[in-house]
Amino acid sequence: MRTVRTAEGLTDAVTAWKEAGAKIAFVPTMGALHEGHLSLITIARRQAPRVVASIFVNPTQFAPHEDFSSYPRHPARDGALLARAGCDLLFIPDRETVYPEGFGTWIDPQGAALGLESAFRPHFFRGVATVVMKLFAIVQPQVAVFGKKDYQQLMIIRNMVREFALPIEIVAGETVRAE
Ligand code: PAF
Repeated sequence: MRTVRTAEGLTDAVTAWKEAGAKIAFVPTMGALHEGHLSLITIARRQAPRVVASIFVNPTQFAPHEDFSSYPRHPARDGALLARAGCDLLFIPDRETVYPEGFGTWIDPQGAALGLESAFRPHFFRGVATVVMKLFAIVQPQVAVFGKKDYQQLMIIRNMVREFALPIEIVAGETVRAE
């Protein structure tokens, strides 16, 4: 498994695959991986010959009182787990790559985003939808896999893909829990 940290590095790797006609399945994560994430990689493997995962702890889905800085970060351990699960390429962008200086274009989902999690974390799905759109734009996968565990998130991403006519199939993974 290769690890790339820049949008250019990612584009170089996937361009070669795309030129060879290979379909790409994408699994976005915030790291601190467990069985649930790895099951999404297994699903991605069944969907496409090439699997890309990302690790990016997305600051915009944390409120100021939520502890972004103490979110667990274990990139070496996560990388080893992803490689063993069959991931081909790991993308670990820095903040500047995802949110360049002056970033000001947001996806602000309504509909499925109203209520439930939003009642407690009103900022949350704006951050999720925006970062997923950005990662989709960089990776340009044909398939992306999301867990049903975050069901509201799954619905919002499905709506976003449909409403923006993104050429990406969203595949849902069953919930897998650790002991
Ligand atoms: O489900 C998650 O881990 C995150 O919300 C996601 C989709 C990676 C966006 O940061």
